[in-house]
Amino acid sequence: MRSSTLIRTIQATGNSFFIDSPPRSRSLLVRELWYPKFPSDLRMSTVANIQPKTNIQMAFHGGFSVSDDASDTIPILTTSQVLDGLKTHHEESNKVNKQTYSAMYSSVFGGITTDPAYMVISMDDHMVHRGHGIFDTAAIVNGYLYEVEQHIDRFLKSASMAKIKPPFDRAKLRSILIQTVRASGCKNGSLRYWMSSGPGNFQLSPSKYSKSALYAIVIEPPTPIGIEGVKVITSSIPMKPPLFATMKSVNYLPNVLSKMEAEKNGGFAAIWVDEEGYIAEGPNMNVAFVLDNGILTMPRFDGILSGCTAKRALLLADQLVKSGQLHGIQVRHVNVQEGKSAREMMLIGSGIIVKPVVQWDDVMIGNGKEGEVARALLDLISEDMKSGPSSVRTPV
Ligand SMILES: Cc1ncc(COP(=O)(O)O)c(C=O)c1O
Repeated sequence: MRSSTLIRTIQATGNSFFIDSPPRSRSLLVRELWYPKFPSDLRMSTVANIQPKTNIQMAFHGGFSVSDDASDTIPILTTSQVLDGLKTHHEESNKVNKQTYSAMYSSVFGGITTDPAYMVISMDDHMVHRGHGIFDTAAIVNGYLYEVEQHIDRFLKSASMAKIKPPFDRAKLRSILIQTVRASGCKNGSLRYWMSSGPGNFQLSPSKYSKSALYAIVIEPPTPIGIEGVKVITSSIPMKPPLFATMKSVNYLPNVLSKMEAEKNGGFAAIWVDEEGYIAEGPNMNVAFVLDNGILTMPRFDGILSGCTAKRALLLADQLVKSGQLHGIQVRHVNVQEGKSAREMMLIGSGIIVKPVVQWDDVMIGNGKEGEVARALLDLISEDMKSGPSSVRTPV
């Protein structure tokens, strides 16, 4: 018998090992069990929670070394320990994040789970290790999905740009999304969904044998919407070229770094400006301005994400033209000088709806207060979410 160490006594009789550990329950790592006749690379490790004076039954004769200092050794877990680990991890993170994941669909599981601990995807999924995936969202408002058709259109367009063949046709995909929200019981929250080129291997391009995958999750509660004006900065993180900026892929590293840059500088978002000096968008929102002539002006969408909220705002803003609050609506290139001297600036996106900007870098926007048009647009979109036409509200 070979034995290392800190354990006081180990006795072996036949298949049974008696460990005389100190008089308290402890976790011991039985580090190396081996069959004497086998080469050393067939050694196994296991972890045992051993009570004082415990008999450990071994299924073979052999040798082992045991240490009660498990801190430097990574345990090899059983399936139930892995599942317990997932559960504990979720409970711990939930205490801090205070977000509820009330249902997840996975085409890999082939159904919906409501247990947040197991809302996971596989390591060999190409969306995980290569970023070969796309996603989209839709708000859940009073038991209705808001603009889900428009979001699905964009989702399918992104999939086509990313060369991912959808695992289902549009009708089935839509039905899965609705059923996932229904199973969640969520009335107000957000639905997110991803399409991946699928699990199967760790190559760069997807395996010809793997199938694309669909995942969807319901998240509660919704992000609080506020009208308080925010500061933005100009992003120093390079913006994505149009091919990548116009599709909603999971490659959000530039967006993440840009948001972090804003936060580090006391801002809410960082705004991208393209090489020609035209204003593009924020990391997960579009931008809009009310120029000095009273015209609502949005940057063109050809090199940025075509925001569903911004597009809806353009339609709803017509009411503000009719009421005289706006003198017109236009989509065109806007340069930084025009943007910074605008009467109003606002951020628009499904996560924030409409957020007035009161400062961009060191420049105060308008009179430095939340603008009237931003307020009016927030009211119009909020109302549209609660009682808009059936083209934008899908019952769950
Ligand atoms: C880069 C980017 N631009 C704009 C938007 C706004 O789009 P939407 O209004 O559809 O949320 C988003 C939203 O996710 C985004 O990620």
